[in-house]
Amino acid sequence: MSAAIIDGKAFAARLRARIGEEVAAFRAAEGVTPGLAVVLVGEDPASQVYVRNKGKACAAAGIEGFEHRLDADTSEEALLALVARLNSDPAVHGILVQLPLPPQIDPGRVLEAIAPEKDVDGFHISNVGRLNTGQPGLVPCTPLGCLMLLRDRLGDLSGAEAVVVGRSNIVGKPMAQLLLRDNATVTIAHSRSRDLAAICRRAEILVAAVGRPGMITGDWLRPGATVMDVGINRVTEPETGTTRLEGDVEFESAAAVAGAITPVPGGVGPMTIACLLANTLSAACRAQGRAVPAGLTA
Ligand code: GUN
Repeated sequence: MSAAIIDGKAFAARLRARIGEEVAAFRAAEGVTPGLAVVLVGEDPASQVYVRNKGKACAAAGIEGFEHRLDADTSEEALLALVARLNSDPAVHGILVQLPLPPQIDPGRVLEAIAPEKDVDGFHISNVGRLNTGQPGLVPCTPLGCLMLLRDRLGDLSGAEAVVVGRSNIVGKPMAQLLLRDNATVTIAHSRSRDLAAICRRAEILVAAVGRPGMITGDWLRPGATVMDVGINRVTEPETGTTRLEGDVEFESAAAVAGAITPVPGGVGPMTIACLLANTLSAACRAQGRAVPAGLTA
């Protein structure tokens, strides 16, 4: 292995400590505590773990967490009524409705009902438009975390050849927009791209966000590339039946070619919650007419 390992866990821990300090300063100056409402509909086990972790992270940073757990058979109208209440609650600066939602609820309608200034996921069409037109707004947490790691590792991204594999609204598309805003030359590749390996080989920065374990191998990489592996895939070993997490990148072969790479777990993953806290503080600052502290937004 020759690649440097990008320690997202350590970076996220430093960022969370910094956010804690900024939250304390905000509370002292404004007499207001930043608040994040997290809404969970149903009992999806993975979502329950995420929501619990978000609650703990808020508490550690001095942010007030408001948890709303609704039954799996909750109607769309009932969820929209809760979102409307949270939109008008001055103690709530950020609102996150955990996805996926049960089938009777249209996620698009719910996400569009969240007040854009409280949309800490950055999924509202208004925040998507702001990102794409270079206006300040709330940016999706995982791509924001990737950008912070890339800037920390590489400094100025101007002119860099960047390839984003995956075109989801949550990661691929916003990631490409953020890289473009930092003046990288950006290609978005996806499952229908012709000769994906050849496209990846052009990349000085490769962001993998496809959700397929080990799909990108070392022979797809340009030597020295910086590889951000956003995939978190649960893989069951056929021999032992044990499960483990694997990224979209085959780590061993990639680390032999890349200049730097994020591991899974411990790479991009921990940045998502740290950036959720950053977005909540940003939303609270804007609500109070305060400047957002440097380094917490794109
Ligand atoms: N479910 C899995 N990841 C996410 C996320 O980033 N935001 C929301 N709202 N739901 C999720």
